[in-house]
Amino acid sequence: MDSRLAVELAGIRLRNPVMVCSGTFGSGSEYGDFLDLESLGALVTKSVTLNPRAGNPPPRIWETPSGMLNSIGLENKGVERFIQEDLAHLSALELPVIASVAGSSVEEYVEVAGRLSDSGRASALELNVSCPNVKRGGVEFGLESQAACELVTRVKERCGVPIFVKLSPLVPDMGAMARLLQEAGADGLSLINTVPGMAVDIEGKKPRLGAVTGGLSGPAIHPIAVRSVWTARQQVGIPIIGMGGITDWRSALELIVAGANAVAVGTANFTDPQATIKIIGGMESFVQARGLDRIGELVGSLRV
Ligand code: SIN
Repeated sequence: MDSRLAVELAGIRLRNPVMVCSGTFGSGSEYGDFLDLESLGALVTKSVTLNPRAGNPPPRIWETPSGMLNSIGLENKGVERFIQEDLAHLSALELPVIASVAGSSVEEYVEVAGRLSDSGRASALELNVSCPNVKRGGVEFGLESQAACELVTRVKERCGVPIFVKLSPLVPDMGAMARLLQEAGADGLSLINTVPGMAVDIEGKKPRLGAVTGGLSGPAIHPIAVRSVWTARQQVGIPIIGMGGITDWRSALELIVAGANAVAVGTANFTDPQATIKIIGGMESFVQARGLDRIGELVGSLRV
């Protein structure tokens, strides 16, 4: 592994800046046959809530020409089983694990985040305040800066690990939101979650998804992600994890040049379980060919 790819995010050392997006990699073990998990920079787990959730009615996935609509509805086994079953296994690996937290009230976020922090098995937490697929919670906490900042303050009071905040591309003023979250104590930002969308069966005159609407990911949303990262980077110094439609090392590096310190690969894992490994390889070749001492030299290097 090329040490020039190593990065540090909120005090966490990553062997490279390539991680996987929450919800696209199960709890990691599902991908164990396809790649060495310890080759990744970090792994972000599926969002967990206090109690188990069954999720939304099927169909929950619909493929579009340039991406994927999902409406999972935060299905998960609840924080306690997640800590005992999934985090226990993941924490045995030489791999930083960022646990994603969701909730339908401030109290729930604080409780879940507190239990994960106390477990000692997560290197950091990602507050998912951007899920478009639930009736309560999710994006409700992430579009309005006062609610988002209050949540971060409360979670920070309770937790001893760095807190990243995952935002929706629907945030009306990404730059202002980023700055206010930094002031509220957020240790980093994850940009962006899916873009709300829907698809229609014209014969049956029905929505393609059981929950009618969903979140669009994949190549179609990459330019939105690049803009979001660039807009936020102009306002904050805290680490940004860039995500949204990464397909290869070039699209990953676009996010880094726009201002991301690390990237997360999501939908591409479904079409190619080795996408992350190929992206890491491409970054190694790029750094080598350009004679860079470290990949961090590229972060926010965009000239406008
Ligand atoms: C879901 O579980 O519906 C997707 C999660 C998300 O968009 O944050």
